[in-house]
Amino acid sequence: MKILGIETSCDETAAAVVEDGVRLLSNVVASSMDLHTQYGGVVPEIAARSHIEAILPVIQQALDDAHCTWDDIDGIAVTYGAGLGGSLLIGVLTARTLAIVYNKPLYAANHVMGHVFANFITATSPALSTIYHLPTTAPTFPMLAIIVSGGHSQLALFRSYFEYTLLGQTQDDAIGEAFDKVAKITGLPYPGGPSIAKAAAEGNDHAFELPKAKMAEKYDFSFSGLKTAVLRQAQAMVGADYTLPSKDLPGRLSDAQKADIAATFQRVAIETIVDKALLAVEEFSPASVVIAGGVAASGELRRQLTERLPLPIEFPDLKLCTDNGAMIATLGCYMATEGQSVADPYTVDIAPNLSM
Ligand code: KG4
Ligand code: ZN
Repeated sequence: MKILGIETSCDETAAAVVEDGVRLLSNVVASSMDLHTQYGGVVPEIAARSHIEAILPVIQQALDDAHCTWDDIDGIAVTYGAGLGGSLLIGVLTARTLAIVYNKPLYAANHVMGHVFANFITATSPALSTIYHLPTTAPTFPMLAIIVSGGHSQLALFRSYFEYTLLGQTQDDAIGEAFDKVAKITGLPYPGGPSIAKAAAEGNDHAFELPKAKMAEKYDFSFSGLKTAVLRQAQAMVGADYTLPSKDLPGRLSDAQKADIAATFQRVAIETIVDKALLAVEEFSPASVVIAGGVAASGELRRQLTERLPLPIEFPDLKLCTDNGAMIATLGCYMATEGQSVADPYTVDIAPNLSM
C-alpha cells in the first residue's frame, strides 16, 4: 500500500510517498524559513502564500521521486491540525481536491501523531538508502513517546498504534518554544534549536545554576520559569538588573557568555525532559522509547537518552524529525490498515488547536 502524505501546518510545504508504513519512497520539503528568519518567527501570511506557490510542484516531485503515477497511490493523508490556520487550509483543500479528482481515500492526520509515526520508517527505496540513517527495527508496544516540538512537550504511552495514554504535558511553553525564546535573548538566529546547539558546542554547560520546575503532576512540564531564569542570568552577566530590556542583551553579551548560556540552558532543558522520561520508564517498563518532533533533532537529547536510558534506543533520521510529509504518509498507512475512519473529502475541516 502506497500513501501520499501532505504536510503544511507551519512553514514547510512537504509531500512524501511511504509504502506499507515502513518504506520511504520519496520525501520532498520546501521551506519558507528564509523568508521568516528576519522577523524572528514564522509570519502566518507569508507561510500561507508560500504554500500556495509550492504545494503542487512539491506533490508532483514526491510522486516523481517515488516513480509513482496517481494509479499507484492507494490513499492521501493530510495534516488537518494542529498548526497555523492559513497554512493548514492550503494542504487540506489541496488534498480534498486531489482525493475527489483521483477518487482516493482521504485520511485526516494529527500532526503530533505524525511526528510519533516517523519512528516506524525503517527502510527506503534504493535511491534514498544513502541519504537516510534509519532505525534497524520498528518500535514495539508498549511504547513510550517523548514528544518535543515547537508546539508540544508531552509524554505518551502507546499500547498499540492508536491506543495511548497521555502521561503529562507542558503547562505553558513547549520546549522548542523555550529554545526559540532563549535564542532571541542571546541574539542567536531563529529557529533556536539548531542555533543554540551550535553556540552550546563552544560553551560550558555548567556555567551557572538554572531551576527545574516542580510540578503538581509528576509527568507535566513547565518551561516558562526556565526561560525567565535565563533572562535574569543574562541580565546579571552584563551587570544589569531585571529592568534591562531583553532586546538590549545581544549587543552586550560576549560570544563566550552567549555560548555558556546556550550550553547551560540546553543541558537543563533537555535534562528536564529526560528526567521525566526515565521516571516513566521505571513506572511503565515500555518495550521501546521513541522521540518525536523538531527537538528530537537535538544532539544533546540523543546524548542524554543514550547515556541514561536503561534500554536501547534508536533515533529517526534528522530529516524525519522536523516537519515532513513522510511522517504523515506513514501515519496514513496505519490509519488505513488499523481501521481508522476515512475522512469525507467534501467536508473535512482544519483544526488549528488539535491536541493529542
Ligand atoms: O516539529 P517542528 O518542526 O514544528 C512543530 O511541530 O512545532 O519543531 C520545531 C522546533 C523549533 O522550536 C526548533 O527550535 C526545534 O524544533 N528544533 C530543535 C532542533 N532542530 C529544531 N531543537 C533543539 N535542537 C535541534 N537540533
Ligand atoms: Zn512539527
